[in-house]
Amino acid sequence: MTTETQTASRRRASFHNLTVSEVRRLTDDAIEVTFGVPAELAGQYDYLPGQYVALRTTLPDEQGEPHEVRRSYSICAEPRSFEDGSSEIRVAIKKDLGGLFSTWANAELKAGDVLDVMSPQGAFISRHGKDGAAVQHNVMNSMNHPEELAGEPGNFVAIAAGSGITPVIAIARTLLAANPETTFDLVYANKAAMDVMFLEELADLKDKYPSRLALHHVLSREQRIAPLMTGRIDSEKLQALLSSAIRAEDVDEWFLCGPFELVQLCRDTLAARGVEPEHVRFELFTTGRPDRPEGNAGRPVVEDESQDTYKITFTLDGLTGDVASPTHARESILNAALRVRPDVPFACAGGVCGTCRAKLITGTVTMDENYALEQDELDKGYVLTCQSHPTSEEVTVDFDV
Ligand code: FES
Repeated sequence: MTTETQTASRRRASFHNLTVSEVRRLTDDAIEVTFGVPAELAGQYDYLPGQYVALRTTLPDEQGEPHEVRRSYSICAEPRSFEDGSSEIRVAIKKDLGGLFSTWANAELKAGDVLDVMSPQGAFISRHGKDGAAVQHNVMNSMNHPEELAGEPGNFVAIAAGSGITPVIAIARTLLAANPETTFDLVYANKAAMDVMFLEELADLKDKYPSRLALHHVLSREQRIAPLMTGRIDSEKLQALLSSAIRAEDVDEWFLCGPFELVQLCRDTLAARGVEPEHVRFELFTTGRPDRPEGNAGRPVVEDESQDTYKITFTLDGLTGDVASPTHARESILNAALRVRPDVPFACAGGVCGTCRAKLITGTVTMDENYALEQDELDKGYVLTCQSHPTSEEVTVDFDV
């Protein structure tokens, strides 16, 4: 990766108030929300297709008490900026069953509302290109004119389910525009036609690139003419799709985005077919562990001088501080750090997004889940602080590197 790409995909997260400029209904239970980004903040909100933003607001919880909620949503449009230097961020918000934020947003959010929006993050981006970063580099330098990008031609395949289409549509648009020889196969799974998000946009993209984009809608609860396109994607159907529907012999990059089970099935299947993991990018909706609520910021841990503690030292924005964490509490480094610095960055708190990444400088930790860091990052000592628990008396991490 070039330094520029590293900066774009790993910029330190910070929140700003952004105003909603448009809310557009996509399906009965999904909306697209556009935030205007003023010129003075545009540099902090440039992004690569496939990245996400965290949104933060305060909503009443079940007891009616004000409760801070953070949710991450993928950006669904290719980067754009306007003549006056301003830009915009578009995300799609699908109503989750019982989801406090997504239910509220689908019912209440309107143009003119203001939310805290975190600067874009995430590593679900294409690395295809001469130096492994050519496409991203070009995108970052030609945000308004993706047609002019000199990205390497490539064959790409994406398998998305439900709102997993959100980052994928931004990636597909950009890669198809970047090189006239690029092909993109998209397998998009939904329950029924009425659940398909961006139906029109996908049809328009197909019209624009009739021979280069192959679109395979798979519906689990609706009969389609081709039996292959009907039913849930299980191992058998996936093998059949890969053998008969996907055109490319040599796929340069795979993009997988959906619930844990589907992404895991695809990863295992591709690995068994000999696809190298470095050609596979994936993004999960959740870790499949709803017992870990998103936005669980700093649950109370009572420190008591008689208890054994771990000493956690951390550097954030150039300031170094430390916090004692009782050994019996088995709290995460993020949790402990939030008690003394509420601005420690996090979004999903579930090992998925990578926002809480820091480098382990001294000491040892165990990490529960990791769906965000790649092997080279682990080799360099990076950890997800929301998933890391000290195993040595003293631990030092650095959020700034
Ligand atoms: S906050 Fe998302 S991985 Fe830690």
